[in-house]
Amino acid sequence: MDQVFTLVYTSQASVEFKDGSLEEIYAISRRNNLNSQITGFLTYRQGYFLQFLEGPKEEVLNCFKRIQKDSRHTSIIKHGEALSNKRLFPDWAMGEVTNLNGLTSSDNLIDLFELAKNGTPYQDVQSLMSIFNLFSKEVKVI
Ligand SMILES: Cc1cc2nc3c(=O)[nH]c(=O)nc-3n(C[C@H](O)[C@H](O)[C@H](O)COP(=O)(O)O)c2cc1C
Repeated sequence: MDQVFTLVYTSQASVEFKDGSLEEIYAISRRNNLNSQITGFLTYRQGYFLQFLEGPKEEVLNCFKRIQKDSRHTSIIKHGEALSNKRLFPDWAMGEVTNLNGLTSSDNLIDLFELAKNGTPYQDVQSLMSIFNLFSKEVKVI
């Protein structure tokens, strides 16, 4: 099987998103990502986005290029890229994670939002991936 390419970034929303106003982004993402065999999730917290994209390398990089040009967000920070043997979110063309409370792995995700606010990229790709590995196991059981 081809290797799965993963990219994680955070960004700052340029416009205020209220409940429901992210729906358009999710809808377009799901349509495009299904076509490009991309899976992952997008979450929004206090004015910042965190997105996990996985799929064929070329497709993920093309998608990220489009995302970087989107004026609805700014200060995009890539925290890591990795290759792996399997997808962490195979069933999510673009999962919507609305509430990070109450999961063991959430503290680590919330730390990523702090890095986003400080403008600092995450340093350690291996530990970054283990955060999402744990998260993917936790969210499956909810
Ligand atoms: C935070 C954020 C996340 C996004 N995630 C995706 C995504 O996963 N896939 C995608 O195709 N577009 C995503 N978009 C939308 C793209 O920036 C762009 O608007 C869209 O891909 C254009 O699609 P179209 O050319 O089919 O209209 C995202 C936009 C934002 C602001």
